[in-house]
Amino acid sequence: MRLKDTGLTAQDIKDKVNKYMIETYERFDFLAETAKDMYLYDENGEGYLDFYAGIAVNSAGSCNEKVVEAVKDQVGDIMHTFNYPYTIPQALLAEKVCTTIGMDKIFFQNSGTEANEAMIKMARKYGIEKYGPNKYHIVTAKMGFHGRTFGAMSATGQPGNGCQVGFGPMTYGFSYAPYNDLEAFKNACTENTIAIMIEPVQGEGGVHPATMEFMKGLREFCDEKGMLLLIDEVQTGWCRTGAVMSYMNYGIKPDIVSMAKALGGGMPIGAICATEEVAKAFSAGSHGTTFGGHPVCCAAALAEVNELLDRDLAGNAKKMGDYFSAKLETLPHVKEVRHQGLLVGVEFDDTISGVDVKHECLHRHLLITAIGAHTIRMVPPLILTEEDCDKAVAIIKESVEALSK
Ligand SMILES: Cc1ncc(COP(=O)(O)O)c(C=O)c1O
Repeated sequence: MRLKDTGLTAQDIKDKVNKYMIETYERFDFLAETAKDMYLYDENGEGYLDFYAGIAVNSAGSCNEKVVEAVKDQVGDIMHTFNYPYTIPQALLAEKVCTTIGMDKIFFQNSGTEANEAMIKMARKYGIEKYGPNKYHIVTAKMGFHGRTFGAMSATGQPGNGCQVGFGPMTYGFSYAPYNDLEAFKNACTENTIAIMIEPVQGEGGVHPATMEFMKGLREFCDEKGMLLLIDEVQTGWCRTGAVMSYMNYGIKPDIVSMAKALGGGMPIGAICATEEVAKAFSAGSHGTTFGGHPVCCAAALAEVNELLDRDLAGNAKKMGDYFSAKLETLPHVKEVRHQGLLVGVEFDDTISGVDVKHECLHRHLLITAIGAHTIRMVPPLILTEEDCDKAVAIIKESVEALSK
């Protein structure tokens, strides 16, 4: 939809949103009318360099031509039919995902939080059926983030904080241990623990990559105890961290992995992949979803995955992540730059607020997000070039200088 066809002004649109929508977001004060590759464009065709990519979604570029084509082709064939008949896009995507990441089985959902719900449900059902009714406990990381539905929110290790505030009791059956602390994770497990659930990089928690020792140690410990390792790759999956899945950076494999965001290339889709043995926990009627495995979303995801792999965008994420981070480290007031591929966090010293940097960058038409008090996070499309990085670094520098005057 274009503004000129509605007879309205940009302000009319903002007014309607403010009047009618239940607002839980702090909006960027501009109208995003179109998008292409590294840029969002407002109603006047003004470009905004996009270093948040719809929060780590548009990895092969916004409105990638192959993804757009796939959507247009599929939408006229079958838009929706539920999961009773076989459909072509589901079959092709299931095979592509499983064979690419070395897992046996896939279950499609609509979002990251739903994928994590499915992952938690599958782990619990596996544990209870195999070991008895008390084997449902899951240990997750403090300061993690797994989503905003009750299971995923309860798995999010921020008790009484962040997204859990004001919603009453969480689902029981979870304990939390400090991230990157292997001994603490071991100690948090009890005889009722069936799984450890972990992000390979804590994204919402401030961009903290897991150490090699931690991830390998968790895998070994789970194997030793007959427990499952659940890896949340909703943000890190599909090439963002320099490997197709971040767990590949650690030379390990999960028993179940969740994914969403970049998988759909801009269309809403989530999924879990599991080993053959663990996947048996789900059978007819034990889990389901009306829209999960939607033909149009699956067709888009297949096109996106092909683009990511054919253009080696994991390789570009690694190369550009290193280039970008090295440049960011030279900026004033920077305390630390943390990254894995193109999941990049910059923590400033106490004099610089992350939210203020975000606003200054927005004035200069660079889109980034802020997390915590002094940190900014950037998750640009993986197609970015050195020139895009240089532009972003120059704008962040100007923004920080303006704030420190
Ligand atoms: C690691 C992780 N898990 C789960 C989610 C939730 O995904 P969604 O917003 O698609 O429900 C997010 C979203 O940011 C995430 O970063």
